[in-house]
Amino acid sequence: MTDIHAEPTRTGLYGEPPAELVEIPADARQCSPLIPGSAALEEAPERTLDRFILAAPGGLQERRHVLALALKALKPGGDIIAIAPKKKGGQRLAGDLESLGCTDVSISSKSHCKIAQCTSPDDLTAINEAIAAYGPRLDEDLGLWTRPGVFAWDRVDPATALLMDTMPDLAGRGADLGCGLGILAHRVLQSEAVTELTLVDIDRRAVEMAWRNVGDDRVKVRWEDARTGLQDISGLDFIVMNPPFHEGGDENRSLGQAFIKSASKLLRKGGKLWLTANRHLPYEATLDDCFSSWTKPADQGGYKIIEATR
Ligand SMILES: C[S@@+](CC[C@H](N)C(=O)[O-])C[C@H]1O[C@@H](n2cnc3c(N)ncnc32)[C@H](O)[C@@H]1O
Repeated sequence: MTDIHAEPTRTGLYGEPPAELVEIPADARQCSPLIPGSAALEEAPERTLDRFILAAPGGLQERRHVLALALKALKPGGDIIAIAPKKKGGQRLAGDLESLGCTDVSISSKSHCKIAQCTSPDDLTAINEAIAAYGPRLDEDLGLWTRPGVFAWDRVDPATALLMDTMPDLAGRGADLGCGLGILAHRVLQSEAVTELTLVDIDRRAVEMAWRNVGDDRVKVRWEDARTGLQDISGLDFIVMNPPFHEGGDENRSLGQAFIKSASKLLRKGGKLWLTANRHLPYEATLDDCFSSWTKPADQGGYKIIEATR
């Protein structure tokens, strides 16, 4: 186990590092954008914390951004402990921290992870450069605000593209479950007959980008778990979604099934679900259980589109 000093500390925490690799103080402040209600790392006061413990993300730009923000939140000389699976960024942790100006990086290995530990440098030049380089930006090709870490942050997902091409113009009150950057919402809102659209995502960065991308009088954004939240919403006319099927890097088919169950609770009788998914994902039995009927208006390129009627 990584040694944590016994002294009381002001500790920042990002994500859920494996408990067997690092001891996490009970009062550590969670800053993951993937845990609704957490503090925003971007807003952490500079140079205040004694320690930061991170489950470092796998994506290079996202990881460097998070490490830079964490280092800036630390007092000069405050220490950072960053953990990542060897095959998901762990091998690069030392280089990442050195590129941010850290000079005393030590690395250990345990349970297929790399654990990097060092102190925050006095000089913030490289840290500030990384914060600027890897943060939110307007992507001219996508025509959307985006940032590394959000799903399909630098491309249009092909399953999403197929749904945008297939679905008709919608009308009334609806929701986009797992909205990401708001790309489906952008398409839905082109219909003036849409009167209200609630965008939901478990990733705070996604709902922030989505608001920048499609925020208008008809739009509400919610940083929530679509499986358990939205208790105050019912009687919707339509739902669009490209549900997630990965959790912690591993395929999890129950996620999409839970999204379908949530959609059925949110829709009015006769309301429509427009869903896109990889063809192999087993959603048909859940659709049979939760909807009166469903059809498959498109099935191409490894993706399927489902139109289900509540
Ligand atoms: C496949 S992506 C689709 C994103 C966007 N709709 C698109 O088509 O590009 C699934 C989205 O669901 C979000 N997500 C994952 N688990 C969630 C949950 N439990 N509740 C709400 N959103 C979730 C992810 O953050 C991600 O943005």
